[in-house]
Amino acid sequence: MHNDWLRWPTDPARARLGFGADYNPEQWPRHVWDEDMRAMRAAGVNIVSLAIFSWARIQPAEDTWDFAWLDEAMDLLHSNGIAVDLATATASPPPWLTTLHPQILPVDREGRTVWPGARQHWRPTSPVFREHALRLTRALATRYGGHPALAAWHVNNELGCHNVYDYSDDAAAAFRRWLRDRYTTLEALNEAWATTFWSQGYSDWGQIIPPRLVTSHPNPAQQLDFKRFSSDALKEHLRAERAVLRELTPEVPVTTNFLLMGETKGMNYADWAAEVDFVANDHYTLPGPQSRDELSFSANLTGNLAGGRAWYLMEHSTSAVNWQPVNVAKAPGELARDSLTHVAHGADAVCFFQWRQSAAGAEKYHSAMVPHAGEDSAVFRAVVDLGARLRALDGVAGRRRIPARAAVVFDWESWWAAELDSHPTDRLRYRQEALDWYTALLDLGIRADVVPTGAPLERYDLLVAPILHVVPAGLAARLRGYVAGGGHLVTTYFSGIVDEHDRVWLGGYPGALRDLLGIRIEEFAPLLDEQRVELDNGTTGTLWTDRIDVTDPATEVLAWYKTGDQAGRAAVTWRQAGAGSAAYVSTRLGPAGLAPVLADLAGRAGVTSELPEPLRGRVELAVRGGHWFLINRTGAPVDISAVTGMPSTLEPHGVHVVRTGGT
Ligand code: GLA
Ligand code: GLA
Repeated sequence: MHNDWLRWPTDPARARLGFGADYNPEQWPRHVWDEDMRAMRAAGVNIVSLAIFSWARIQPAEDTWDFAWLDEAMDLLHSNGIAVDLATATASPPPWLTTLHPQILPVDREGRTVWPGARQHWRPTSPVFREHALRLTRALATRYGGHPALAAWHVNNELGCHNVYDYSDDAAAAFRRWLRDRYTTLEALNEAWATTFWSQGYSDWGQIIPPRLVTSHPNPAQQLDFKRFSSDALKEHLRAERAVLRELTPEVPVTTNFLLMGETKGMNYADWAAEVDFVANDHYTLPGPQSRDELSFSANLTGNLAGGRAWYLMEHSTSAVNWQPVNVAKAPGELARDSLTHVAHGADAVCFFQWRQSAAGAEKYHSAMVPHAGEDSAVFRAVVDLGARLRALDGVAGRRRIPARAAVVFDWESWWAAELDSHPTDRLRYRQEALDWYTALLDLGIRADVVPTGAPLERYDLLVAPILHVVPAGLAARLRGYVAGGGHLVTTYFSGIVDEHDRVWLGGYPGALRDLLGIRIEEFAPLLDEQRVELDNGTTGTLWTDRIDVTDPATEVLAWYKTGDQAGRAAVTWRQAGAGSAAYVSTRLGPAGLAPVLADLAGRAGVTSELPEPLRGRVELAVRGGHWFLINRTGAPVDISAVTGMPSTLEPHGVHVVRTGGT
């Protein structure tokens, strides 16, 4: 068997959709493995991730190795036609290592040691940890590099899930090296960090520390750089393991599972995507009215970080997880809908955590492909059905998503900086605002992409950049060029405020975008939790308002404040500029309030829904590899005859795939 169907770039003629899970055979007696193989075949599983948390099992002491069980698992999987995404097994250091070298344990901002007892208790910058992790990586690559089951390498696991911020002395030393690379001179660092403020001027590199526990508000530029550094430190670990793997097995692709989901914000994946041979993501739904849209948002962003190429869904759940305050089971149909939504947005593999639900341990109440109830269960039957549906969709494997005409810009730097402390409000949520715009676009039936700032923005007719807080001069110039070239830019409150050092653009907000928008703001006017303001277009604002002066007579006011301190002032503005336009929304409207504003703005940009009227808002459309994916956004049936050309109904939570031909 050849596993190059999983290797990128894939030949679409040979591509298949992967289907599988994390597989943890070491948790089970040997006879269960045979049951696993039979049930995996019945379900159509063709790939598993193996050995993710197996360090202590593989290397029970510093110079003791036990590969026998892993040899057997690899061989068994191979003889059953199942490929392996083999982990480097470095995610959870074993007790012998942390006992021998406690200096690999992370330290929190209050100086407390993060002890072993769970997982991922390692400092990304620890030279001792690095040495042991690379030794293990080398041992695995040497032993299994030529194994016929090996399809890909899985570096560590969810790098940064628990250990992104480490304030140890190792981190301090690495932070200083990182800062020297970035600023070269102390003068440049002092300038960038504005250290004249509160007597923070540094006269020696050795005085610099991570933003540990302080009396009050820590230096914001230092905090922002520490976030960048921490993301980079984990990326360095990825690169270090990858270097060993590429040296020993240059033909085997290397990936690691990202965590583009919810509020996981420490890792700048836009910056990591180029480091892997194919992008892989883990996604878990969070309860709430936008749960489904959030999945779509994350999947779409993952696809755009992958540059439009196919990517790999490494983990999601068949039903409930175990780590939310209340862990709700998925309703019938949701398992397939969630999986197929990822495929619609470019996933070439649908994998779960995990194959067989653990009988013990911290994740025993986390769902799996084979639940505690066993194969005679609704979950397992849904898994088998999904396997069959994926086989029928092999035709989309390796094929690209078709970009939309509208996009929401997603920027980690703005996420980090906009949510720092000591701001006009601490209630602002960057990702929620971005998601609200995405939901509003879907409510209008408009297909949208979610893209990092580095993406080819000119491709989009309508670009929504919510809370684009950090706008360095270069980005401001790109946005001006985008508008001059005919693009329609929409931005919001707290955008265009600071440069890359978190230094305010002076002369009135939003400094970097002021002229483009044709407005000027002297003061922010955030709202208290209970405050609401009415706009004259019938919508209601919360969270934020601005005291806007319209400075360019060509700027049109699309909505005015009717109540509150800004009553009589502009709330939403639009300015034609060059061949395009630039619009500003100064308050939080939420999806329902954004929809009418967006309908107007999209109309001005010439962007309309591709869906027939009865489907708009009820159905999400994604276009990939000559297929239209119609995803029911509601809990009710939707008549989709207008698309299929025959009487047809999309069941609640259902997904219908229509072959349209073409790319
Ligand atoms: C105190 C301090 C000032 C300043 C203000 C801000 O009064 O003495 O330096 O921080 O708070 O409100
Ligand atoms: C993460 C981890 C898995 C498991 C799941 C549970 O994605 O990678 O090992 O803990 O969460 O949801």
